[in-house]
Amino acid sequence: MTTAGSAGYGAYRLDGLPARVTIHEVGPRDGLQNEAAIVPVEVKAEFVARLARAGLTRIETTSFVHPKWVPQLADAAELLDRLEPAPGVRYPVLVPNERGLDRALERGVTEIAIFGSATETFARRNLNQGLESQFAMFAPVVERALRHGMKVRAYLSMCFGDPWEGAVPVEQVVRAGVRLLDLGCFELSLGDTIGVGTPGHVAALLDGFAAAGVGPERLAVHFHDTYGQALANTLTALTKGVTVVDASAGGLGGCPYAESATGNLATEDLVWMLDGLGVETGVDLTSLVETSVWLADRLGRPSVSRVVRALGPADAGGSD
Ligand code: HMG
Ligand code: MG
Repeated sequence: MTTAGSAGYGAYRLDGLPARVTIHEVGPRDGLQNEAAIVPVEVKAEFVARLARAGLTRIETTSFVHPKWVPQLADAAELLDRLEPAPGVRYPVLVPNERGLDRALERGVTEIAIFGSATETFARRNLNQGLESQFAMFAPVVERALRHGMKVRAYLSMCFGDPWEGAVPVEQVVRAGVRLLDLGCFELSLGDTIGVGTPGHVAALLDGFAAAGVGPERLAVHFHDTYGQALANTLTALTKGVTVVDASAGGLGGCPYAESATGNLATEDLVWMLDGLGVETGVDLTSLVETSVWLADRLGRPSVSRVVRALGPADAGGSD
């Protein structure tokens, strides 16, 4: 006999965990931005619609970045035009600069995310800005977005290590993160862009933010699973009071400007763990797995998610 989810084997709570976690789904953006092939816009639109039907309420849909920098998302405007927003679902998009904000405003976007770097090298490689000058680029974006009634999230990359600079001190990350929040962002997502973090490091970083006056209610975590640490790191963040977790359906993802970044924590693997812990997410695992199987068939390769592989058909996305 099979069961649709981990709760079929019983839900066992652990002390200190929140009753509910909000999943910030980044598959259509962080996932598809790193696909070698350009996914047709109608497939993207259906992917986003399916994610909403599976119960995800925050779906990061695309980016208004320079189309030469990320050709995979050059169809951002067309994708938004095709979306039929579902009630209660938010569709944030990434915006790095004022040109990106203009493009988002033209499409009636109501929520954006800026994305900063904790290190000099990645700021230059990802944004063509220095560590210091990135804040001057973001400030007018946030100010104008707030004036238009938008919600603005902030990302901070390379919070746990950088492929060019190596270790990144906690104080350096906290300093950069506080500056992004101080621009007026409602939430800061801490990115382990290359997946090198481990649970003690997560705890130390969250403690560093708490000491600087930033509690877990203003933080989210964004783990790439390069070294298989994403779930352990997430559980640590939850015990520290974080309740917003970024994940990508099927474990799609990476970052085209950080070569050692592989996929994000898979949403299915996260939901499996949270269901088993009795933590509510509002996400239907069966429907989400069906979505990742459907997308794997379109991409022509199997999902990297362990849960999708365990619950989906053996031949989804072709064999590897
Ligand atoms: P730049 O080349 O320095 O831009 O790129 P510029 O301001 O010098 O402008 C040059 C030309 O680009 C101008 O056109 C601008 O209009 C145009 P021209 O006058 O020459 O005809 N331009 C734009 N066109 C469309 N949309 C725009 C835009 N901006 C300028 N928004 C820029 C600077 C920031 C644009 C570029 O570096 C860029 O697009 N970077 C984005 C890279 C990216 O998307 N990386 C992946 C996302 S981050 C990530 O994945 C990490 C995360 O997941 C967290 C984690 O894991 O850590 C979030
Ligand atoms: Mg990322």
